Amino acid sequence: MNCLSDCRTIPLPKIPDDRGNLSFIEAGRPIPFVIKRVYWIYDVPGGEVRGGHAYKELQEFFVALSGSFDVMLDDGKERKIASLNRSYFGLYVPNMIWRHLENFSTNAVCLILASKAYAEDDYLRNYEEFIKFIREEEHSALQVRR
Ligand code: TYD
Repeated sequence: MNCLSDCRTIPLPKIPDDRGNLSFIEAGRPIPFVIKRVYWIYDVPGGEVRGGHAYKELQEFFVALSGSFDVMLDDGKERKIASLNRSYFGLYVPNMIWRHLENFSTNAVCLILASKAYAEDDYLRNYEEFIKFIREEEHSALQVRR
């Protein structure tokens, strides 16, 4: 099972230039999965919250392309908040981590790189269902070890 220590901030290459800086991501580098989908969240009204779910399989990588926002992460045991506010850093979040995004600044743009195509059946949208899924996975892992 993944835990909060598996969620990590990863620096991105930054090419400083008087004409404007440039950063990039290539397939598999520096993020630890093959990118299958890209989506972005923008025009978020003040005080709104996005996310509020976990994924059974999907891994994601968040970048604050513009502005800032907080990502609340929860592995079923503890919680932490990662603040993203630079376009040359990203946050890797593996599967089975509950998250929501909050405190969006005006004009914030959140880019998300994802390891799989969109699949509604990969979502755990209910927190109790997420905790139950973790317990079941832990139970099956124990059975295999015995
Ligand atoms: P959802 O993932 O629930 O948004 P958030 O986690 O940011 O609150 O997605 C919102 C809607 O958009 C939902 O109806 C599914 C749809 N959607 C797609 O069709 N494709 C996608 O890649 C994503 C991320 C969402």
